[in-house]
Amino acid sequence: MPEQGSVLAESKHEQGTLAFDQERYEEAARLFTEALEVKETADGWNDWATAQMLSEHRVMAERGYRRALELDGTHQQTAANLGILLVRSGRFGDALPLLERTMNGTDGQPDAMLAQLVTHCRERLAQARGIAGSGPDDKTSSTDPTHSDGKAGDDYLARIEKFNQRALELGLGDLSSYFWYHSIDLGEGLVTPGIFDLRDHLAAFRFPEDMRGMTVLDVGSATGFFAFEFEQRGARVISTEVPSMEGFDRFPGQTTEQVVRKIQRWVNPRTHSTDQLGKLARPLTSDELYFHLLDGPFRFCQQRLNSKVERCYSTVYDLSVEKLGIEGFDLVFLGNVLRHTLYPLKGLAAVAPLCKGTLILSQTMLTGPDSQPAMLYVGGDDPGEDNSEWWNPNKACFEQVLKKLGFKTVEEVGHDSGVLVEIGTSYGHTILHARK
Ligand SMILES: C[S@@+](CC[C@H](N)C(=O)[O-])C[C@H]1O[C@@H](n2cnc3c(N)ncnc32)[C@H](O)[C@@H]1O
Repeated sequence: MPEQGSVLAESKHEQGTLAFDQERYEEAARLFTEALEVKETADGWNDWATAQMLSEHRVMAERGYRRALELDGTHQQTAANLGILLVRSGRFGDALPLLERTMNGTDGQPDAMLAQLVTHCRERLAQARGIAGSGPDDKTSSTDPTHSDGKAGDDYLARIEKFNQRALELGLGDLSSYFWYHSIDLGEGLVTPGIFDLRDHLAAFRFPEDMRGMTVLDVGSATGFFAFEFEQRGARVISTEVPSMEGFDRFPGQTTEQVVRKIQRWVNPRTHSTDQLGKLARPLTSDELYFHLLDGPFRFCQQRLNSKVERCYSTVYDLSVEKLGIEGFDLVFLGNVLRHTLYPLKGLAAVAPLCKGTLILSQTMLTGPDSQPAMLYVGGDDPGEDNSEWWNPNKACFEQVLKKLGFKTVEEVGHDSGVLVEIGTSYGHTILHARK
């Protein structure tokens, strides 16, 4: 006798299938969600993801397919569907192994459509390797030139060019002067050419899969990858950003003008010397740089994703309940922000009382003997120059300070490492969960 929950889940799933067959995909997705809330199955997630894909919600679709494969790694239909989705998003390197493994059906007969996609992926990869391999800076090229992990230089420029071209094709205007911190899939073949492509790194952060009903504060969102991710997981999200270039910390004695110039040098430095992004070749004003670097890219993604993420302009030090309008957040994310503060303890102390659940801190941490809580000064001795990074605390330092600020437990849950797409240098971030 099947239990009551299973019967309910099956009935919801059947209703969803009916809606799906009648091409009412949004409704189908909702019914599949209701079924999954009662009982999670690989089939259920596969169908949910397909309804999302046909509603053009590709990020959700990918997540659904990946969840189905977590539940059943041998689910051939899901592997094929995910492969197709990745091809549609231009991620041929990620798609290929999935399609290769599924193109011969269970009866051993090749599926003509999948076989065709395999050929297409191989051709596109070979083509892209041709582009990536032609330049002098190809030292870190990975085996997947259509996806960003482990690549630098010319491939990065090729991705910027592809993005700008696609934006023009879609009638979205000339976006060539924007700086993209994160790679974000905006659908319709439009993936922002971010220097950080964290799309495949999310598992390391151990965010809750289901954030429905949660309030989340994303401090220092940059292009907004994490804020949009939290929203897609169901949370109400407030994203914060410095209000202007004046909001960035600067070493005593440095002027905002110096900060603006140095940041402009970092922004797409390779493209500054070419005509390719002509607009960036002349010095930008402080307000222009702020817009091209932070607010413009975030707002663009917000609009494309039809996102309801709320925005608060404030330095980390000035965040308060009054400014944010929420008493205590279930989750606060501090990704690589304190690294850019002169007073990390003051920043952390401002954020701690805003969190009533978990604070997730991710950033570079000093390695080596961890027995003593310590913080290394990394700002150098040049009065006018630095990387806007001054302190590198170790894990023990964060652990003690977080506990002193009222968190009961602090746990290291993972590590996010990779290669900066633009310049090929590697990075490693330690991820801590501090709980009240
Ligand atoms: C390195 S990015 C990190 C982006 C994102 N949180 C992540 O983890 O990928 C640093 C972010 O912190 C912001 N930021 C820098 N200084 C800040 C400050 N004093 N207060 C608040 N945000 C700041 C930057 O504008 C930028 O959005």
